[in-house]
Amino acid sequence: VKIFVPRDAAALALGAERVAKALAREVETRGLDVTLVRNGSRGLHWLEPMIEVETAQGRIAYGPVKASDIASLLDAGLATGGNHALCLGKTEELPFLKNQTRLTFARCGIVDPLSLADYRAHDGLKGLERAVTLSPADIVTHVTDSGLRGRGGAGFPTGIKWKTVLDTPGDRKYIVCNADEGDSGTFADRMIMEGDPFVLIEGMAISGIATGATKGFVYIRSEYPHAIATMTQAVEIAHKAGVLGSSVLGSGKAFDIEIRTGAGAYVCGEETALLNSLEGKRGIVRAKPPLPAHKGLFGCPTVINNVISLASVPIIMDKGPVFYKDFGMGRSRGTIPIQIAGNVKYGGLYEAAFGLTLGQIVDEIGGGTATGRPVKAVQVGGPLGAYFPRALFDTPFDYEAFAAKDGLIGHAGITVFDDTADMLKQARFAMEFCAIESCGKCTPCRIGSTRGVETADKIAQGIEPEKNLALLADLCNTMKFGSLCALGGFTPYPVTSAMNHFPDDFRPVPLVEA
Ligand code: NAI
Ligand code: SF4
Repeated sequence: VKIFVPRDAAALALGAERVAKALAREVETRGLDVTLVRNGSRGLHWLEPMIEVETAQGRIAYGPVKASDIASLLDAGLATGGNHALCLGKTEELPFLKNQTRLTFARCGIVDPLSLADYRAHDGLKGLERAVTLSPADIVTHVTDSGLRGRGGAGFPTGIKWKTVLDTPGDRKYIVCNADEGDSGTFADRMIMEGDPFVLIEGMAISGIATGATKGFVYIRSEYPHAIATMTQAVEIAHKAGVLGSSVLGSGKAFDIEIRTGAGAYVCGEETALLNSLEGKRGIVRAKPPLPAHKGLFGCPTVINNVISLASVPIIMDKGPVFYKDFGMGRSRGTIPIQIAGNVKYGGLYEAAFGLTLGQIVDEIGGGTATGRPVKAVQVGGPLGAYFPRALFDTPFDYEAFAAKDGLIGHAGITVFDDTADMLKQARFAMEFCAIESCGKCTPCRIGSTRGVETADKIAQGIEPEKNLALLADLCNTMKFGSLCALGGFTPYPVTSAMNHFPDDFRPVPLVEA
């Protein structure tokens, strides 16, 4: 019988390693016929470590499990899906999972991440098998027709980016996967790299064949040691099996992947700073144009895509662009892995077609705050995303709908705050974050963020509040339109949204002399 204990970093942080060791020990002592599989996470964070048992009726889940629960779980017949206080029933019937549309994350938590046989058995490599029979232009057309847009945050059409690289002449071209997932409250890239690494490898190989690139790099942030280890092993396995190498799946087309580790700067998630870092230079932003698609890594035409963009390609190649495009709304097609975090009851990864409202995500799926207090604000799109009040909860999860309300979806991370949050402090935090992470290349970001912190402090101290509020708004305007990249350019989103939607927090009572 197979028992699954996740080795995803979130599960490990909650004690999954201790659970796995206790289970292995107890199984040996009792002489049970159990195969322990270390899978990825299903993304139900409040239930981690969540272990599962394969039974004739399907998988049965238990959680959150502690090492000290193992003996009683085995006494209750864990190996046959027996009942226990921690039993959650059939995994697939858990409402949080059942109501999702898992396309990109279809295998995550189900397969053994490092078993290529398991990957194949769950429809893996079908997209690449199809791609090697098509011309590069046809692959690009497939991706364009699917409506897939960059999941890193900007939402630029992936197919058009690939076409630019395909049409740009060059002896050498590169595929770079941006796995520098720096946004606080986001973890989709990490989860897929740890839970289903071959889907990213497959997506990158398809991208290489589509554009004429023979070499790919995955740039992973150093804070993700488990993702780095899993991806490194998966690339080796794929290489040995002929999925990567001089003849991808025997097609005669070459493609290989190298894993590179970042050094911890948020700005290295910006594509041109990332390219500099990959070239061994300081991670500083380059002016665009030239676009990386024209002149990227080592001056060569380069596809640079986020992990989720690339990991969404295999299913598009396998099932066809129409299948993918059928999901979603407006110009936001397909599915998006929403990462629900912060002060929330049911946090985790929820993949769904575009179009759920923010209210559905926070109240129905997330179950409101973990503290049980009213939701005050939700920050969507990472630390550079806008704060949305309850009055905007009818906004559908769609690139254009969020932009119309002066917000952004970004990498689809949402962070929930209850009514104890002080939005002036949050605005100050955004400026402070920008000051710390600024690469220093341009003045509005480098100097503006520091002045922003000082101005927020003056408002908090009640010093000339009207004048300083106007100054903060003016500063935001300068940063938004005068910064070279999204770090300085997007910092105004959290600041101005906090000012506009929560004006009371910007009118603190001035200190009264005793
Ligand atoms: P951008 O709008 O400048 O570019 C988007 C992408 O499209 C880039 O790869 C660019 O090179 C490409 N592109 C633009 N025009 C093109 C053309 N004509 N042909 C081919 N390619 C073209 O946005 P940027 O600055 O790359 O990203 C900003 C986004 O990053 C924000 O929306 C933010 O949400 C997100 N972000 C994500 C983080 C994460 O952890 N995933 C962290 C911080 C920001
Ligand atoms: Fe560097 Fe900030 Fe300018 Fe971006 S906006 S180039 S991070 S100084």
